[in-house]
Amino acid sequence: MPRFQMTDDLMTGIKAIDDQHRRLFDCANAVFAIRDENAEERVVLDTVRSVIAYTIYHFRAEEFAMVEQAFPDQKRHLDQHKALLARVATLRRLVEDVAPITAVLSGLQMLLDEWVRYHIKLSDKAFARYVATTSTGRRPKLPSPAAMHKAGLLSDLDYRTVRVVHAGASRPLTSIELQNRLMRGR
Ligand SMILES: [Fe+2]
Ligand SMILES: [Fe+2]
Repeated sequence: MPRFQMTDDLMTGIKAIDDQHRRLFDCANAVFAIRDENAEERVVLDTVRSVIAYTIYHFRAEEFAMVEQAFPDQKRHLDQHKALLARVATLRRLVEDVAPITAVLSGLQMLLDEWVRYHIKLSDKAFARYVATTSTGRRPKLPSPAAMHKAGLLSDLDYRTVRVVHAGASRPLTSIELQNRLMRGR
């Protein structure tokens, strides 16, 4: 059974956001699946990089949607993203310094735990509730990876990774498929 699953209590009801959360879980699950297959460390680290890049993209895209929807509680939400991005930065340092794989995996697990347990369940769902109850009727837009890159909010390297990971985000991605995509994208 995959380690991270899109259970009902994690669904916000905003399809674009739920699809991105699902894709993030796919990438995180792929890390552990690939490690369990005793893949080369380089391959495991590349897969962790895909979680890092996609997390950065997802937060930026969600923040854009909050501004666009004039979400009144956006400052608090952005502060939480900032705190999670500090964890992402720590994880990136571990990956780039080729820290022991157990340290990288526990950093990834801690990031996902905090994010899933508190942020998605409480804060992302609060934003979705706001969207559902406002009268504007505008569906939140989540900008594409290309738009985020063009706006200077995604580095060249992260954009290359996000672009290959993001395609077809509305359906689940297997670890083999992700590995193939990451290899092709290089
Ligand atoms: Fe969020
Ligand atoms: Fe989110």
